[in-house]
Amino acid sequence: MIKKYLVIGNPIEHSLSPKVHNYWIKKNNIQAIYTKQKLEDFELENLISQVKEKKINGVNITVPFKKKIIPFLDILSPEAEATQSVNTIYLNDNKVVGLNTDIEGFELSIKNMNFNVANKTALVLGAGGVTPSIIYALKKMKISKITVSNRTKEKAENLKSLFNNLNIIEWGEIINFDIIINTTSIGLNIKDQLPIKLTKEIKNKFFFDVIYNPKETNFLKKGKEFGNKTENGKNMFIHQASAAFKIWHNIQPEVDRNIIKLLDS
Ligand code: ATR
Repeated sequence: MIKKYLVIGNPIEHSLSPKVHNYWIKKNNIQAIYTKQKLEDFELENLISQVKEKKINGVNITVPFKKKIIPFLDILSPEAEATQSVNTIYLNDNKVVGLNTDIEGFELSIKNMNFNVANKTALVLGAGGVTPSIIYALKKMKISKITVSNRTKEKAENLKSLFNNLNIIEWGEIINFDIIINTTSIGLNIKDQLPIKLTKEIKNKFFFDVIYNPKETNFLKKGKEFGNKTENGKNMFIHQASAAFKIWHNIQPEVDRNIIKLLDS
């Protein structure tokens, strides 16, 4: 029987998960297919029923369902629980389990850049679906201070119910940092500009953008121009996918040049 996997979201057209997973499925001679599906809130329950009935073997979850899916699951991993965010689902012992592999994705991406987060300070822009995973990973890597700034300040304040010792500042305000991370959707459009005043005095820092398409947002462009290290969200995306693949197929897929190329096309 061909196993069935899919990514759900809304919108979903631009998801590159099928490309990546189907490449690894083929490469490892696995009898499986990975598709994408646009869902509405009311369809989540039925989706999980299909996982219980083994009609679907695994699901990736993207915006806006990473939190909304939680009430329908039987078990959450400690990371999914702590972030209230699930991006990977599978059936184990007839229980539907929710995992968060975005955390590992971010962690590996940062480590691959040879950037040591320990005892550093971070400025996190945004308080959306992926932000708790970034904060969790930063804390895991022993960051000393995290400041969050979001247009809707209340959403930044709400993160305090998940994490202690968060510093919240006004949207548009800037504070000293070693690493700055854009977790907002500003930059998806090539002309988008974050309303953060970046100056030449900010140098030898690390600019990270969760966005990987476009490859270089204005935020990263500016960071680079002023002599900072920069990284987009591509490796984070690949590593969250490879962690999900490992869970489902028990094979650690290779992150080779073809994968990198696939995401550029
Ligand atoms: P969700 O809010 O449903 O989790 P998301 O795509 O995960 O959606 O998060 C979007 C993030 O980008 C939020 O931090 C959002 O800020 P608000 O909480 O104020 O909405 C931010 N964002 C999106 N467009 C923005 C804009 N034009 N200006 C400032 N922030 C923006």
